[in-house]
This record gives sequence, structure tokens and C-alpha cells, in this order.
Amino acid sequence: METLKLNIEKIYSFVPKETIYGYKKDVEAYNAALDDKTGKGNDFLGWVNLPSSISEKELTDIESVANVLKNQVEIVVVVGIGGSYLGAKSVLEALSNSFQALKSKQKNPLVVFAGQNISEDYLHELLEILNEKTYGVIVISKSGTTTEPAVAFRLLKAHLEAKVGKAKAKELIVAVTDAKRGALRTLATQEGYKTFVIPDDVGGRFSVLTPVGLLPIAAAGFNIRQFVAGAVSMEKATAKNVAFENNPAAIYGAARNAMYKIGKQTEILASYNPKLVYIAEWWKQLYGESEGKENKGIFPASVTFTADLHSMGQYIQEGLRNIFETVVSVQNTDYKVTIPNDPDNLDTLNFLSGKNFDHVNKMAELGTMLAHVDGNVPNIRIEIPRINEYHLGELLYFFEKACGISCYALGVNPFDQPGVEAYKKNMFALLDKPGFEEETKKIKARL
Ligand code: PA5
Repeated sequence: METLKLNIEKIYSFVPKETIYGYKKDVEAYNAALDDKTGKGNDFLGWVNLPSSISEKELTDIESVANVLKNQVEIVVVVGIGGSYLGAKSVLEALSNSFQALKSKQKNPLVVFAGQNISEDYLHELLEILNEKTYGVIVISKSGTTTEPAVAFRLLKAHLEAKVGKAKAKELIVAVTDAKRGALRTLATQEGYKTFVIPDDVGGRFSVLTPVGLLPIAAAGFNIRQFVAGAVSMEKATAKNVAFENNPAAIYGAARNAMYKIGKQTEILASYNPKLVYIAEWWKQLYGESEGKENKGIFPASVTFTADLHSMGQYIQEGLRNIFETVVSVQNTDYKVTIPNDPDNLDTLNFLSGKNFDHVNKMAELGTMLAHVDGNVPNIRIEIPRINEYHLGELLYFFEKACGISCYALGVNPFDQPGVEAYKKNMFALLDKPGFEEETKKIKARL
């Protein structure tokens, strides 16, 4: 079976292989602390065994609710933010036809998102479309109290009820939230919505393999069993009984840490396929929110080549030398398109006639890798055989496991996010939230 492969050879001129492999004992201990649930934040390690512990009943339940939506609506609006948004968004962007929304016939509902911003124009434009289409809503919030999705859901609930009536709206709304706590759980019980549970021991950004990710992916018509199967294989390939040298998550974690130690404090995730743009957004949240604390952590950035070679490429080649690059390289395309011959050859590119676009893309990839290494940017390469449910399951689990290892190597708790509260406090004070009177006075005086 083809599988994800990691190649770190192009960092050895910056940090020798022996140094990276010298981390073996420590990294194996960090990995065991994840699997044994003994490390920092160990009450949030439920994601480690999620792939292998998802039951047939859970999968069937998710598929049947997805089918109810698929059979009734043209659009599914997924409401959520952060970890309650990016997992599904990243997988759907990767798997969907790049021009899906423009296709005249839709086999499955189009999945769109709300509650990941508070933009008035975005919501107005969404409602304009929803006026003309049949739609359902999947509202996702683990805490059930996050402001952005809560206000977006208020709007959509009122809109759907006005459009189809309260009784029908109830059938078309599904809530994914905590088993017992939070305003969304209370509301779902009160209204009688179908609900799915986000386990207590799984944090938002590690929740793509719960109904948070699986339900929207299934509603869009993709195969969640294959997605889970890919994650199961990576769960096995990165388990504590796998030696460091055979464990890609352990090696990636060690390599990142080695980069950080030599002052490479920014990691750029690059791909040569625009379908992976949101995989990078998901990855940035995973690593940024897990590692960036106690004044430490690698800054996660991303680019899509070759487009960004004509913008950020200049900085990567010659800017501040504090970066390393991790390329997600897709080995096979789904379709073949060749470059036509042009008898006039005005652009002098006939030497490419008859060649596949992907061949040119791959040469751009290899040429860029060597140019960046020459420009003192170490290069890590993650190869996936193709973009499908199975390999995305592998890739996302690989990143999650490596993230846990990296955070333990850095000495931080991967599973909290204390820094996220600061903006919320200020926003509530500025919005005159009852109970914030003192903060309101102080903050208004500062403006
Ligand atoms: O990773 C995280 O924990 C966060 O990004 C959350 O997912 C995000 O803040 C949304 O939280 P909630 O699902 O509680 O609305």
C-alpha cells in the first residue's frame, strides 16, 4: 500500500543526521507520554486513539444524518470557528472539484461555512444565497459559548425558521457539541435538534476525526470510512512501539526542534497544489495554537507555489534567514493534461510540448527545493501518493502526532490556549457586556 513518506535529507547540511537521530531517546519518551497519556495536558489526549476507536455505530450514525441532509437540501452551512471549522474546511477544499460551485448539476449539497468570522457583508451575502436555495445547518461548538458561531447561528436559525417553519427547521439543524455542558447543548435539548458529541478529552484543533470533521465531510458526499482508515494506518505507524527511525511523526518532530534550536524560528508549509491551501490553514492553527506559548514556539506560515514563487519567493530566497520550509508534495494527479504544441513558438516554449503540466510542476518543485537550500533554507519533504480521503486521513493524523511530540520537546502543554482569552476580554469590555463594567471604563479610556 502506498503511504505518506517523510524526507529530511535536505536539512542535514544545516544539522547533521547524527544530531537529529541523537534525539531518539527523548523523542520516543515524548511519543510514549502521548500514547500512555502521561504528558502535559493529558486530559486532552483522547485524539491519540480516535481513529482506531471510532465504532461502526458512530460512522453509520454520522452517515445516516449526512444522508438526511443530502436528500433534502442544496446547501449545508457549517457554523464553527477554529478547531470547529478548519478540519472540515481543509478536507473539503482538498477533495472538492476546484470549480464545484460553478457546476450546473450538484450531486451532493455544497458545504459552505459561517461563524468563522463576524463580517456583516459575508453574512448578508450568505443570506442572499440562502433565500434562493434549500439549506440545512450543522452548528459546531465544543464549549457552546463561542461568540462568533453563536451570533452566526442566531441569524441562521431565525432565517431558516422564517423560511421553512420551526418544525421543519428543527429537522434541518444538527448540533455538534459537548455531551452535557454549554449553551449550545441546552439549546439543542430545548429545540430537539439531532446532536453529536465532541468527547471531553479531545480539544478543538485535534477534533477532525470526531463528528466535528466527519459530519460535514460526509454531508458533502465524501468517504469518511476511507478518511478514518488512513488515520488508523498512521496511528499504527506513529505508535510508541515504532522505533524513532521508522516513525515519521517522531522524525518530523525531532527535525523541527533541531531547526528551532539553530534559530530557524519560522516554518513555511509549502505545496504546489492549490487544493491544499486550507490544509495549511488547519496546520497553522494546529501548530500555532499548540506551540506558541510561554514566549516560545515556531511561527507557522504557508505558501502555495508556484503562485507564491512570484511573491513570497523573493523573501524565502533572500530575506531574513530564520526560516525553514516543509513541502507537502503530491506524487500523482487524478487527471492528465498536456501542454499543446504551437507552430509559431513565440513564447519559445515548444520544448515543453507534449509534456504533462504535472511534470513541469514537479521540476519547479525540485528546482525550488535546491534553490532554497542554496539560499540557506533547510527543506523537509512530506510526500503523499495522491489527494484522496485515505491519504488526507494519514496526513492529518501524522501532523497531529508530530505536533504533540514537538510541543513536548519544546516543554509546553499542546492542549491549552490561554492567550486566546485576551482579545475576548477586551472585545466584551468594548461591547459593554454586563459584568465587565470596570474593564469597559478602563479600556474605553485607552482608546
Ligand atoms: O483548538 C481550539 O480549541 C480552538 O480553536 C477552538 O476550536 C475554537 O476556539 C472554537 O471553540 P468552540 O468549539 O468551543 O466553539
